[in-house]
Amino acid sequence: MRDQTVEQVIYWRFNVLHRVVHLVVMFAFIGVGLTGFSMAFSSVGLAQTFVWLLGGIDSVRYFHRFCAVILYLCVVTEILWGLYYRFVLRGNLLGPNSICFRIRDLRFFREHMGYLLGQSEGPPRFERFTWWEKLDYWTLFLGMHSMALTGVFLWFPEFFSRFFPGYFVNIAQVLHFDEAILAVLYKFFIHTAVRHLRPEVYPGDWVIFTGKVTKETMMRAHPGEWALLNAHQQGSATRDQ
Ligand code: HEM
Repeated sequence: MRDQTVEQVIYWRFNVLHRVVHLVVMFAFIGVGLTGFSMAFSSVGLAQTFVWLLGGIDSVRYFHRFCAVILYLCVVTEILWGLYYRFVLRGNLLGPNSICFRIRDLRFFREHMGYLLGQSEGPPRFERFTWWEKLDYWTLFLGMHSMALTGVFLWFPEFFSRFFPGYFVNIAQVLHFDEAILAVLYKFFIHTAVRHLRPEVYPGDWVIFTGKVTKETMMRAHPGEWALLNAHQQGSATRDQ
């Protein structure tokens, strides 16, 4: 959507729902990370200080579950949004504006690697979401399901032991802990570096907070989307004549 009320032409990339969900996910994720690792490394001084600040281990366990529920509600919100996008807005989940992967992303990936290795003049003509943005989204979205599954085993061990052998709870704990390490490493290093430390956006890419991009950014970072948007606008102008 185009907004010309300010001097510079800007485009709305993220609506208010996605911006709020991202903000909530960010804080809830930091919450589960801090509380989870304080429980896992409770003999370490730093963890003990954090536990003390939160009012003891019971509060930490409570906060972990609280943040986990908030995090999972964000996942549910995204599922509901996907349904709304598909069935009410009649959006195409496999179209160029969708966050879903499509075969074309494999070509974008190959061309992008070629560009980074100096084999081509410029990056591919990315559409609305690049392959790494989709990867970012889906690692968290899918990862949250497995974290929630192992998490509820740890939350209600007696209940699940009625249906599964007791060692399933031990397996859940190992998987929960290992995936937590992976998730935190991915989000804090890869996500942060790829999103904010690229030369084009350094020292930070604030689009998920402001929701807006400039025309220049659209043309540089999402030329495929820009071309589609123009083709669409020209199509409507021709029809209006
Ligand atoms: C999404 C739903 C999640 C649920 C339902 C959940 C639930 C739980 C529960 C019930 C525990 C056991 C706490 C206790 O001992 O009292 C736990 C431990 C833990 N959680 Fe989560 N959690 C979730 C997500 C996460 C995420 C996203 C992370 C990390 C980013 C994480 C990191 C941890 C860690 C590190 C532990 C300690 C594991 C250990 O002691 O070996 N959790 N979680």
